[in-house]
Amino acid sequence: MPDRGAAPERPGAQEWVPPDADVDALAAAAPGCRGCELWGPATQVVFSAGPSRAALVLVGEQPGDREDREGEPFVGPAGRVLHDALHDAGIDPDPVYVTNAVKHFRFTERGKKRLHKSPAVAHVRACHPWLSAELAAVRPRVVVCLGATAARSVLDRDVTIGEVRGRVLDEHPADAPDAAVLVTAHPSALLRLRGRDGWDEAYAALVADLRTAAAAAG
Ligand code: URA
Ligand code: SF4
Repeated sequence: MPDRGAAPERPGAQEWVPPDADVDALAAAAPGCRGCELWGPATQVVFSAGPSRAALVLVGEQPGDREDREGEPFVGPAGRVLHDALHDAGIDPDPVYVTNAVKHFRFTERGKKRLHKSPAVAHVRACHPWLSAELAAVRPRVVVCLGATAARSVLDRDVTIGEVRGRVLDEHPADAPDAAVLVTAHPSALLRLRGRDGWDEAYAALVADLRTAAAAAG
């Protein structure tokens, strides 16, 4: 017999998300989230960075090892690529709001190392109420999805990066109907190419996509 009194492992974040909250209130509530099991092994929740209202929002996948330790999104190697690309696209990072589809680091342990493990669709779904509330509060003009996991959360469907990247889509996030959406590659995908064939093109494409998004954001 299932124990009906037991909490389900993955109830989703909704019950921890305060209604009609601004970003500060959301960030203050997020450490209490038990919407899925990823909070357990992680050091802390990594919520977002940037102002409480922003024309441009960047959505990543989930925090990495460094982000988990520091509590800030995109402060590790992928963040370095992202910040270089923003700089080369002529975008001031200060007014940009940066967040992730999943707010806790998912990893496997290999000796002393913690290896990134991609979140499952169920984690993306469980964590979606946070992103949804963020978009409602921040009210961006353009949401940039960095990679397929972000796109899955924002658009609620599977996308192939190669098919959709780099253009403003004729689709809107359900929770931010006024926002345009642009999908590009995840900076971690670029990191794997560093020092190899394909890096220059991949980096230039990320810069170009960010420039397109910034132009659309006004
Ligand atoms: N990768 C992400 O998707 N998000 C981060 O915050 C860091 C790395
Ligand atoms: Fe909550 Fe998201 Fe963390 Fe899961 S990953 S516990 S849904 S904040």
